[in-house]
Amino acid sequence: MGAWSFPSFTHPLISRTIFEKPIIQIPLTQKLTSSVPVILSKKGNFKSFTAISPTAQTTEESENSLSVDQETEAENQEEKFDWHAQWYPVMPICDLDKRRPHGKRVLGIDIVIWWDRNENDWKVFDDSCPHRLAPLSEGRIDQWGRLQCVYHGWCFGSSGDCKFIPQAPRDGPPVHTSSKACVAIYPSCVQNSILWFWANSDPQYKDILLKKKPPYIPQLDDPSFTNTMLCRDIPCGYEVLIENIMDPAHADREGGKPLDMSIQKLDVNGFTSKQLFVNSYFIPPCMFYGSFGSGGDPSKKSTSSAGTTEEPPPPVPQKKNMLLLFYCIPVSPGNSRLILATSRNFGDWLQRFFPRWVFHIRQNLVLDSDLYLLHVEERKIMDVGPLNWHKSCFVPTKADANVVAFRTWLKKYGGTQVDWGTKFSRLLPPTPPREQLLDRYWSHTVNCSSCSLAYKRLNALEIALQVISIASIGIVAAGKQGIMSAIARNTLVSMAVLCFVASKWLSHFNYKTFRYHDYDHGLI
Ligand code: FES
Repeated sequence: MGAWSFPSFTHPLISRTIFEKPIIQIPLTQKLTSSVPVILSKKGNFKSFTAISPTAQTTEESENSLSVDQETEAENQEEKFDWHAQWYPVMPICDLDKRRPHGKRVLGIDIVIWWDRNENDWKVFDDSCPHRLAPLSEGRIDQWGRLQCVYHGWCFGSSGDCKFIPQAPRDGPPVHTSSKACVAIYPSCVQNSILWFWANSDPQYKDILLKKKPPYIPQLDDPSFTNTMLCRDIPCGYEVLIENIMDPAHADREGGKPLDMSIQKLDVNGFTSKQLFVNSYFIPPCMFYGSFGSGGDPSKKSTSSAGTTEEPPPPVPQKKNMLLLFYCIPVSPGNSRLILATSRNFGDWLQRFFPRWVFHIRQNLVLDSDLYLLHVEERKIMDVGPLNWHKSCFVPTKADANVVAFRTWLKKYGGTQVDWGTKFSRLLPPTPPREQLLDRYWSHTVNCSSCSLAYKRLNALEIALQVISIASIGIVAAGKQGIMSAIARNTLVSMAVLCFVASKWLSHFNYKTFRYHDYDHGLI
């Protein structure tokens, strides 16, 4: 996914002598301020991460240099990132259909999303009917705007309360009022045109939105910026997806100037990295973003999930600004979801002119390019155990600073991997056939309002071209000599051939764009 990774900015003043500084530089006294605690911590400080020597190292030396300072680890052993008390992005609003419920899985939790027209709001419920556990996402919205399970017709209102049980006698006890007839409801909100949900339905979090909001990016709501979003299910886990997104080096496989990246601060609330004039931010659990080509408006500061006001992106005031945001969502072991958002206030005429699916062609191709690599890499990491990532991977350059920082954060605060609770055995699913691994249709097209519409229309155009082709040949065949001029006959035959060729080309285009594109690095 290199083309999206933050670019390798090179500068003539940057010496080619590298590694004189540590990969990770963390001030000893720096702390993140937070209005709402994200952690159950007693100590928020961090001490040191050892740099990596540029000179040839033995594997053992490398292992030592990458390991988190043991003393620090011991001191921070009570600091934990609570995976189940966080906001998670679910879907871009533009890809949600208000007419029907949608089933999604996030952090191993099956949820149903539906539009509550009575409260004019999106709702997120547990995707399980309290009657006989049928998935509510297979249900429908009834004429009164309630969520209805289609198995036996139970209906549910805005707060998860059961409104109607068809089989309950009208003059019998009001069984629908039992608390056992209610569906668990998750706190949810719309922020930056994305639906978010709080991954815990415990009543203590009912008003969590008043205390803690999802990360907010002002540029995404700024009318002077043009935004596009893409959402795709990814057949590899959250950990390898997010480190791939953070890794700018694989965008420069040919090797330009070595990247000079350093970590400015790292604690339980994430980390900030710097590469020349590009600052990047990891805000756990899902968000990684960077700002390019501008100092931006200092008033436009991003706000972290903890309510923390982050440093403004680059300090040099410029007018042009571009943001690249990645929301990496843990779905289940071996599966994740990516929401990509781009936001810019320059050179955006293309985005204003063309529909979203046109941009998704390139973006999906970039995603395809690394999917198989990540899928295999993840299995190898599982073979050695996530705890041993620092030992099994040799990461000697500053270009790996973000990846090392993420793995360090994961090890120190995140329990080495996503906390799935008791839901999964943590075993990865078996490797599917390549066609399924690189599938675009189920992983993206069906869920994307723009691509699904384009796919339907282009399919209709393909059929229309075939019909015109056959009809033209039919007319020529049926026409008697002398009735139709030679010019007319030639025109019809030419049209038939052209339409046939165009329909074939369109069929190929549709398949590669919306269904499956076999990305072969050896032939690209
Ligand atoms: S399972 Fe839902 S109504 Fe019976």
